[in-house]
Amino acid sequence: MSTAVAPKAYKNFINGEWLESRSGKAFENRNPADTNDLIGLFAESSDEDVDLAVQSAQEAYRTWRLTPAPRRAEILYRAAELLVRRKDDLARDMTREMGKGLHETRGDVQEAIDMTYYMAGEGRRQFGHTTPSELPSKFMMSVRQSIGVAALVTPWNFPMAIPSWKIGPALICGNTVVIKPAEDTPLSCYNLVQALSEAGLPRGVVNIVMGYGPSAGAPLVSHPNVNLVSFTGSTEVGRIVSQACAPTFRKCALEMGGKNIIIVMDDANIDLAVEGAVWGGFGTAGQRCTAASRIAVHKKVYKEFMDRFTERAGKLRVGNGLDSATDVGPLINEDALKKVMSYVSIGQNEGAKLVLGGRRLSDGPLAHGWFHQPTIFGDCTPKMRICREEIFGPVVSVMAVEGFEEALTVANDVAYGLSASIYTRNVNWAFQAMRDIYTGIVYVNAPTIGAEIHLPFGGTKQTGNGHREAADAALDFYSEWKTLYIDHSDRLQRAQIDTETGAGA
Ligand code: UN1
Repeated sequence: MSTAVAPKAYKNFINGEWLESRSGKAFENRNPADTNDLIGLFAESSDEDVDLAVQSAQEAYRTWRLTPAPRRAEILYRAAELLVRRKDDLARDMTREMGKGLHETRGDVQEAIDMTYYMAGEGRRQFGHTTPSELPSKFMMSVRQSIGVAALVTPWNFPMAIPSWKIGPALICGNTVVIKPAEDTPLSCYNLVQALSEAGLPRGVVNIVMGYGPSAGAPLVSHPNVNLVSFTGSTEVGRIVSQACAPTFRKCALEMGGKNIIIVMDDANIDLAVEGAVWGGFGTAGQRCTAASRIAVHKKVYKEFMDRFTERAGKLRVGNGLDSATDVGPLINEDALKKVMSYVSIGQNEGAKLVLGGRRLSDGPLAHGWFHQPTIFGDCTPKMRICREEIFGPVVSVMAVEGFEEALTVANDVAYGLSASIYTRNVNWAFQAMRDIYTGIVYVNAPTIGAEIHLPFGGTKQTGNGHREAADAALDFYSEWKTLYIDHSDRLQRAQIDTETGAGA
């Protein structure tokens, strides 16, 4: 007799109801630290499910856009309260499906809480401008207007935080949502949507369709009744999303890769820089868009930095994120592990010196997971692929530089521009770095990770397409400006013509 318990089935959320996919198909969600651990079966959606979800969002939009923003905010506020109460359980679910340690998944849920409270506050802060007209008896102002149905496609590395970055501002601006979470981590998005629904969100305002990119994501971003698209993920997929939006000029925000640098100057507090490099490089097993994947160290302190960095990183404990002793969890899946392993051989072949790690870990309790050793390459040069391409794993490439100018050149000489950091006590260098490094985020004496939700988040060059998430900047993506002119003079007044400079003199 089998004692196996049937895995839990998680359905799509469409028009306020939990629904199986039309095809009845489902996909497995397994723990990347232990693939014997089956978390559940999730609805595998295709264009029929997407159609239904978009239709439901379209219908809900008619009333949601007219719901006063402070009322919408009350629902977000209540949802945030639910997340606070459930934080520990939500973090456990997330560690099980994503792999990063509980301290990190608690942080991820906290980021969703912060964002949801913040956007609730924005319900009473959607200010526009009023300004005097150039003509008498004429009033003018600008107001934000909602756009329609927002299609959101989110990644697996911040499985609740990033959905909240998009859902929060989309809703507070009066849009309705269809979200397609990453197939590796659908549960955390499901948990977020569940909290919103329990908080009283009207049916159809947020819909979730789960599944794979080509079969669920693609029909969603190109659906004719979707009005705006926000995507976070790889540059490769971002390009496809951008092309799907181009023919109809659909508003589209892309948040993609990074090759973030830490610069360590010769006057830096080396212990602090080492601590920052360990956290920035190996936190989340390097699977952050903001991860510090390259380090440029002033040649005078290169050896000292390398010795201490290698020693500290060598002590990191790799394991299951549910174990409180774990510092570094697994990679998200087998493909991610293979990609990391292939970059390790690329680094070796192009002449970088492997000073730490470099191997998959699969002994004992790690046998059924996608683990890789924290890996450091030294003696790297800026032209090496491991210093230019996003690896998205626990691999850090270190280069020696002659001085500040060279460090700046190296920092800017990549295709991406998300985050950068400098460790120095020289105020001039700090301010020049803040001015001259062309990224969306610059840190001084802190690693490249750790953005807070009340300032804009995003990057330059091939990291993005000019939009920013988080903060009030997010409102600029999820709403459009409307300018209003009210003439109460009771006569025709011609702007620019009746007001010619000096005309009345
Ligand atoms: C990401 O890497 O995709 O700044 C998001 C940070 C986090 C968000 C990272 N607050 O590292």
